[in-house]
Amino acid sequence: MHQEQRPGRRTVLGAAAALGAGAMTLGGGVAPAAAAAPAPASRGGGGSYKDLPVPTVIGHRGACGYRPEHTLGSYEYALAMGADVIEQDVVPTKDGHLVCRHENDITATTDVASHPEFASRKTTKTVDGEKHTGWFTEDFTLAELKTLRAKERIPGNRQHNTLYDGYWQVPTFEEVLKWAEEQGRKRGRRIWLHVETKHPTYFRKAGLGLEERLAKLLRRYNRSGRGGHTFLQSFEPSSLQRLGRLGIDCPKILLLDDLPTRPWDFVEAKDPRTVADLITPAGLKWVSGFAQGIGPWLNLIIPRDAAGKLTKPTTLVRDAHSAGLILHPYTMRNENSFLPADFQRGTDPNAYGDAFGAFKTYFATGIDGIFSDNPDTAALARDAHGRR
Ligand code: G3P
Ligand code: CA
Repeated sequence: MHQEQRPGRRTVLGAAAALGAGAMTLGGGVAPAAAAAPAPASRGGGGSYKDLPVPTVIGHRGACGYRPEHTLGSYEYALAMGADVIEQDVVPTKDGHLVCRHENDITATTDVASHPEFASRKTTKTVDGEKHTGWFTEDFTLAELKTLRAKERIPGNRQHNTLYDGYWQVPTFEEVLKWAEEQGRKRGRRIWLHVETKHPTYFRKAGLGLEERLAKLLRRYNRSGRGGHTFLQSFEPSSLQRLGRLGIDCPKILLLDDLPTRPWDFVEAKDPRTVADLITPAGLKWVSGFAQGIGPWLNLIIPRDAAGKLTKPTTLVRDAHSAGLILHPYTMRNENSFLPADFQRGTDPNAYGDAFGAFKTYFATGIDGIFSDNPDTAALARDAHGRR
């Protein structure tokens, strides 16, 4: 899995603070739906991803440039900022509930370390070949997890976001589905989601398979079809294939890490193919057999040189389009430390650089969408430089 890059700090706050936490309860619960009727169809008409604005703005972990990631506050803020689609990463609890976390290790994004009653749960595990020491969702029941509070992952860099530490709980995916229906009713359109299965092979081996649980929830909330306003994504091809076999017809996006890496299900199955193999024309054709798009690391679209500057775009956009695949690359962040050197401004790694310049450059390659921690910036850039 692609690791966090050197983090940064946001310097723009005004509008973010003014919008606040919306209609959520302090505990992160969702207000009861005003009516039982389903939310109206989106601006995507019948819900086809082909009707979304292009490049589509995907709120990465919500609007995690401004709020602790994967909280209802982060999701709602992303919507308010103009994101077209809101991203969730899902992992299971011990009792099989899907919750929204970027990884099963909840040490960095919750206050679990300050709960003495859970001190003995701290442990070391190997997840997808990497050792992690901390607390893990699969060792907690949902009731236990609900006693925790979410916090900012990179407080040294996004200090403003620490204001919201402790404000929201860890949401279940079902709470997010209910929240999306409620938001849809308020806004007169269905809300698009982009859901990633995290460590699917690891969890299947642990007896907590993600896909059946996800499929059940998607069906329950009328999101399992091609018009269900839901993208599904994974770094592991077999997870998307399994969802397809379960009859889930949502558009699927295969995430791609750096060139020499291998999806973890390939490692387990002793499949020697790397990401470099998957982005050849033959590899992309294979992907198009079970997915509608790819989600490459941005460096696969435009590599950076040793100094961190952008070089010439690769042929990946053209090749993927030739294979009938759309591209939702990740992740654009406004802070200098994440931007290509060309767009860094000043010497503070946590200050914002020329994010608009970077968006414009990436959009010019012909990508179909982008994950961004700063969906407001992405939406403005899209309105200025998008294709429709
Ligand atoms: O899912 C798109 C992007 O989020 C992939 O990277 O590690 O942030 O989930 P990661
Ligand atoms: Ca993700």
